Amino acid sequence: MLVSQHGEKEGRVIVAMTNSKGGVGKTTMAVHLTAWWHQRGKQVVLVDSDTQGSSSNWLREAAPEIPVLRLQSPDEILDELPGLRREYEHLVVDGPAGLSEVTRAILLVTDRALLPCGPSVLDLRAAQEAIRVLQQAQKIRQGLPWAALVPNKLQLQYRLSRELLEASATLPVTVSGGLCLRQAFADAAGQGTLVWELGPRGQTATREIRGLFHGLFGRDS
Ligand SMILES: Nc1ncnc2c1ncn2[C@@H]1O[C@H](COP(=O)(O)OP(=O)(O)OP(=O)(O)O)[C@@H](O)[C@H]1O
Ligand SMILES: [Mg+2]
Repeated sequence: MLVSQHGEKEGRVIVAMTNSKGGVGKTTMAVHLTAWWHQRGKQVVLVDSDTQGSSSNWLREAAPEIPVLRLQSPDEILDELPGLRREYEHLVVDGPAGLSEVTRAILLVTDRALLPCGPSVLDLRAAQEAIRVLQQAQKIRQGLPWAALVPNKLQLQYRLSRELLEASATLPVTVSGGLCLRQAFADAAGQGTLVWELGPRGQTATREIRGLFHGLFGRDS
């Protein structure tokens, strides 16, 4: 397991997907992480902080039994997120693209920040910007939130993906396991479902994303 329990109360954890760039996989990971914890019997809520509403709509379609909330202003996030810890074991926050006040507010209350990052130079630059803002929050909060860069849409046969992995190792955050570019992830989004509901064509993606979550949160979380 990659994480320390620093700052987390009784195993309760707020995890947020943030990055300065759009389309890097924040919503895909937020929806699957929420559904994965729910399957494992955890009391979990998805907090959609993106005005696009993609993750709340997707999860309502894929698993209507899982609670979903929309908190979309910095004030709502700062006022309401910490208190939700009392109601739920785990909170998964899907952040908007960009380093807006909403993203900054999320970084002031979350225990862990996951920064999905695509395999391009632009993605890596955007991640560096996001890390700068993350570090501002960490200075204020004595090291919190714990953060990891999550490489996404990897194509390991291509030089760019391998270079991204090498370059990301020099960043001042942990780099977690990643996800490859797979049709099943795009299909799940398009069909409002989850990769493990896609049958055999979702098998590899399922193994990969569960492996990512096990690596980040441990098998018992
Ligand atoms: N590993 C992957 N393989 C293939 N497609 C992927 C993968 N991860 C995400 N996608 C696709 O990439 C697109 C963007 O993903 P997603 O919506 O999760 O990103 P996002 O960071 O939340 O974007 P936004 O900033 O617009 O909210 C979606 O069409 C999604 O299906
Ligand atoms: Mg999104």
